[in-house]
Formats: sequence, structure tokens, C-alpha cells
Amino acid sequence: VVVVVVVVVTAVVLSNRTDTFKATFIQECERRTPENTSTDCVEVWSAFEQAYVGRDPCQVPPEAYDHLLSVAPPQPACNRMLFWSGTKEVAHQVSEGCYQTMEDSMLGSVLDGMTWCGKEGSNETFTSGCPGWTECENNPVRSFWSRASAEFAAVACGDAVVLLNGSRDTPFSPTSIFGSIEVKKFTSDRMKSLTAVLVTKDNVLANCEDESLKNLQKELKPGIKYICKEVPESELLTCKKDHDQTCVPCW
Ligand code: APR
Repeated sequence: VVVVVVVVVTAVVLSNRTDTFKATFIQECERRTPENTSTDCVEVWSAFEQAYVGRDPCQVPPEAYDHLLSVAPPQPACNRMLFWSGTKEVAHQVSEGCYQTMEDSMLGSVLDGMTWCGKEGSNETFTSGCPGWTECENNPVRSFWSRASAEFAAVACGDAVVLLNGSRDTPFSPTSIFGSIEVKKFTSDRMKSLTAVLVTKDNVLANCEDESLKNLQKELKPGIKYICKEVPESELLTCKKDHDQTCVPCW
């Protein structure tokens, strides 16, 4: 009897785990999807789940999300695309209501801050005990952000912006998602220019002459204009507050 109870309770707890994550996913998807569009959030969930369920959580490559991205592709907003690297918080403060970041896309907003993985021989979704970002490269979370960011960058159009961290030694890191994936996906037939905003806090460690930014410039396809600006973080935030209604660029 005890064994049966333990088995049943465990099964209920486990299926609840999947259910809560699934319910949140679908709910957020629906909240974020305008009515009268063809997006079916139950279908989006199955496409998502199919990428990692039943798999070794260290063997989920970015391509596992190909189908998901085809079911729910990011919608570009020309001249309002904002990328970031090492500046997550300030990037979202500044972009709010004006620019589109990866985390403003439907999938990005649903999955931002979440952890998930599957397990071989199981059809569950786990939200704890999953491999960390660097534990193994092909983990479900890292592969999702790699694949989705590639798609987000590939559709970027017009004049785009990236906020880089000028209080770091290497503001343009070749191993970051921005440096290793997004930059390589920008195409000159869609994108006109990239403005790199070097956001600095009290300790300024890099300026626009930084060696790493030369590498950024080199990575850009000919035809994409490169602009660099150094702006203190406090200035960005004050400007955002003062011009919240008009969305004037603060750089
Ligand atoms: N360990 C843990 N988490 C990491 C690590 C790491 N070594 N590297 C990246 N991450 C996760 C963290 O959640 C972190 O907040 O990725 C996030 C972004 O990392 P950054 O180095 O700040 O930036 P980057 O890798 O360039 O990714 C940001 O990717 O999703 C896109 O459009 C988005 O332009 C943006 C870029």
C-alpha cells in the first residue's frame, strides 16, 4: 500500500510540474498573441516540447527548435530592433514601449527567466535539476536562446542598436550570443546600420576605440553602416524618463 501511495503521489507531483509549466506557457502565449492571428498556442507548445522531451538534456542542439521557430517566428520591427550583451537590465529599461528586444518577441517573453529540460525515457518537462548554461553546451535552455536569437537577428531590418557594456574589458565578446550568433546573421539587404552604444557605469573600462569593437566592425557585412557612441548609463535612464512618450533615441 505504502509503495502504491508513494508511486501515485510522485506521479501526481511530476505531472503537476509539467502541467504548471505548460499552463503558464500556453497562457502567456495566448496573452501575447493578438486574436484573429493564426497562432495556435497548443500547437506552439507541442512544437516547443518536441525539441527536448525524452532527450538527454545535454544533447539538445539549437536545431531541435527549428520547427518551433517556424511555427512561431519573431516579427521584426524595422528601425526599432534592440540587441544587448552584458547589459540585460538597462537594455530592457530603455527599450520598454519603444524598442523590440528578443525578450519582447512572443517566445522570448514566454521563456525569459525559465529553466526546462526533459529526460531520456520520460515524457515530462522538468523545471529543476536541469543542466546549467555552461555545464554542457547543448542544453535545452542555451540551445533555445541560440536558435531563437539567430532567427531574431536574421529578420532585423533598418537601423538597429546594440547596447554593449563599457564597464567590461571586452564589450564585444566573441563567445556571447550577440558576438557568436546575432552579428553573423545580420544581412545587408535588410539592415541599414548598427549603432553600438557603449553603456558605461562609474568605472569606464572601454571606449569606442576598443580593440573588441574593431572586431565587431569587421564582422558586419559590407553595406551595414557602423556607428559607435559612448553613453553613461545614468544619462540613458534620465533621457528615457524624460522622453518616455516620444521614444526619441537616447544615444
Ligand atoms: N552562464 C550563465 N548564463 C549565461 C552565460 C553563462 N556563462 N552566458 C550567457 N548567459 C545567459 C544569462 O542568462 C545572461 O543574462 O545569457 C544571458 C545573456 O548573456 P550576455 O553575455 O549578457 O549577452 P549575450 O550572450 O550576448 O546574449 C544577449 O542574445 O537573446 C539575445 O537578442 C538577445 O542581443 C541579446 C543577446
